[in-house]
Amino acid sequence: MDRRQQETVIADLIRSLGASLKSRRLYPPSHPSVRTPVDKCYSELLRIFADRSELALVITDGTLVFEGVPLFNLTSSLDLFMERLGAIGAPAVIFEKGLTTGDLENFIRFLHETTEQGLSAERIQEILAGMGVTHIRVKLKKDDEDDDAGAAREIYDGAVQAVVSVMQDVRSGRIPSGAESDRVVKDMGGMLRKNRDAILALTLIKNFDEYTYNHSVNVAVLSLSLADSLSLPETEKIEVGVAGLLHDVGKTQLALDLIRKPGGLTDQEFEEIKKHPEEGYVLLGKMSHIRPGSAYMVLEHHMRFDRKGYPKREPDYQFHANSGLISVSDCYDALTTMRSYQKARSPLEALELMKGLGGNSLPADLVAVLTKTMGPYPIGTTVRLNTMEVGVVTATGAAGPTKVALLADRNGAALPKPEIADLTEIIGKAGIVSRAVVGTANPLLYPSAAGAVLAPAAP
Ligand SMILES: [Fe+2]
Ligand SMILES: [Fe+2]
Repeated sequence: MDRRQQETVIADLIRSLGASLKSRRLYPPSHPSVRTPVDKCYSELLRIFADRSELALVITDGTLVFEGVPLFNLTSSLDLFMERLGAIGAPAVIFEKGLTTGDLENFIRFLHETTEQGLSAERIQEILAGMGVTHIRVKLKKDDEDDDAGAAREIYDGAVQAVVSVMQDVRSGRIPSGAESDRVVKDMGGMLRKNRDAILALTLIKNFDEYTYNHSVNVAVLSLSLADSLSLPETEKIEVGVAGLLHDVGKTQLALDLIRKPGGLTDQEFEEIKKHPEEGYVLLGKMSHIRPGSAYMVLEHHMRFDRKGYPKREPDYQFHANSGLISVSDCYDALTTMRSYQKARSPLEALELMKGLGGNSLPADLVAVLTKTMGPYPIGTTVRLNTMEVGVVTATGAAGPTKVALLADRNGAALPKPEIADLTEIIGKAGIVSRAVVGTANPLLYPSAAGAVLAPAAP
């Protein structure tokens, strides 16, 4: 379907929704003049979903915008639809592949019955869920996004503190409590549901000096988002997140200079390092508020998919079902971090390398899930835009990057400070162009890349 055909289909489906909504004022939901347009809208959406997984329609200044280009062919029923959405407080609506006519009917009911105005995206989402709408969601308002960035940062910092205090307790010979780890992981899970990008973007924090703390939190965030992608039950998600957060806690038993040692390790030093999964397992076993599953995942995070890692086990050793989530997240964060013995790889380089490890040291299916979770241009990727500008991806959606922190202008000149560009926004004098990613750029030419992403939230 080309762009013009898409626009026609979109206008038709919005018109149908508007017509159904208009009739709903006069007739019961089962009346043909309410139902028939819903069926029509459904079949239009199926055409759209033939080659995409979602359809996002944004309302900017009273105009309906699709992928940065306004659709002007409005009718009165189309106006009605947008007016209702706008009044309720939703600046954008996203239809997801897999939706049913029931979703559409309930969405019409939502527009018809909701009398409150200016609701938060969270509240709208709540009402929609209560009405049984599962595949239509509303976009967060910009204010909400800013709030989310702050809240995500607070959760991230709280998680770092939780790891620090567990490790300090261990070093001073105390048995730490797992209550705080459990709490921060639950907060993390809530934030992932609300605004996945806000917290995922923070995994770009790579602290060279305090590597273990940030690495632990990054692995918690990454493994939790994998658990989310796999739709694991809530208790398993928490188990995975806590395991991610505490997976290297056994390293507290190691001398600090060994952890930070530049260059290679001697055989004897490596033997020491290899003890940390078992030390961690024993430690988690003693802590309160820790589920046994988390302890097993910590024990197994370096055993490797082919059982050739450490601690040593027989080839037929049965892993805990979710251990692979920690191993895959651990590997990804380690590869994308600069260490004393390696340069940081770009997210795409790391994923490519991990694909090669699939079936050997890593479970191939989970590498594929991570690749899908991160999208074609993962957060943290340095990209070139159709405008010739260069930036770092700071948020992604199902269809690709949605936000980029611009680092260089169209002439290649570095910007004095990174500027966030919204790829769904219209730019240019003609008002019909939007920025789009056309490929990757060499991150080494733009060394401030990770800093650019985090600058707005950094203390
Ligand atoms: Fe480890
Ligand atoms: Fe690790």
